[in-house]
Amino acid sequence: MSAQNQLAVLFEGNGDFSKFEELAERLNVPIRQAREPNPEAFFLTWRDGELKLLDKELFKKGGLSVDIAPRNGEQRSYPAPKEGAFAQAIGRKTKTVIDATTGWAQDSLCLFRMGYDVTCIERSPMMAELLADGFERLMQESWVKKLELSPPTLLSGNAIELLKNLESSPDCIYLDPMFPPKRKKSALSKKTMTILQEVVGEDLDKNELFETALAATGKRVVVKSPDYAEPLGGKPTESFGSKLLRYDVYLTDRAKFPTQS
Ligand SMILES: C[S@@+](CC[C@H](N)C(=O)[O-])C[C@H]1O[C@@H](n2cnc3c(N)ncnc32)[C@H](O)[C@@H]1O
Repeated sequence: MSAQNQLAVLFEGNGDFSKFEELAERLNVPIRQAREPNPEAFFLTWRDGELKLLDKELFKKGGLSVDIAPRNGEQRSYPAPKEGAFAQAIGRKTKTVIDATTGWAQDSLCLFRMGYDVTCIERSPMMAELLADGFERLMQESWVKKLELSPPTLLSGNAIELLKNLESSPDCIYLDPMFPPKRKKSALSKKTMTILQEVVGEDLDKNELFETALAATGKRVVVKSPDYAEPLGGKPTESFGSKLLRYDVYLTDRAKFPTQS
């Protein structure tokens, strides 16, 4: 069964029904009422003012939304300092970044808070809806309003196509594609990632995405990889990270030899 067939919009009797209808229409999925026995495995609904993704486990209460709060330990000033392996890999002099595999936008939002100019690409229409809702909420945050910041630009579609038609090259293209989990089920896997794994599955075209990104970037491609995965683009120019996680950096020839024409 495709992810599309597994999804419905859930109306729980609260809020403007037309908003739910429009969402269902955009995604081309049915609308269900909470009390019906529903055949779908996943649901989108608004709870506590946030668009949330539910599975059977989260149906009764809860749900997952794009978390716009800074990560634990992240400095709350803006821009947050460009510290740690992630910022090192992206590059302190980098200004523009395209996150071509946005998912729950936890990496994109971290880049946004560090002051990078971020464009987000996501090919799952369902994830793109969750992201649009998250970015709208971000714009209501007092610090974002006070600093008059613009949200990350969100593009819904396949990055393999979108990166071929950019008006200008970004300094960096960031990739965090879905790798198959090493173990079938890890107790440490976050629910946000396990549900994404169930909905979108493994990204089987990540090699093509890498090649497209390398051709489209101005200076570098950065790939986030689990420790057990082979580097996506062969030997990287440099790598940053820890035991469980690596950021492989691939510099373009232009970035490696800036004085040559
Ligand atoms: C592992 S998740 C990314 C998690 C993300 N870094 C975060 O911080 O939440 C991978 C995401 O990339 C998306 N994706 C994979 N290949 C893509 C492509 N070619 N174009 C656009 N999105 C893609 C998948 O739909 C999925 O949502």
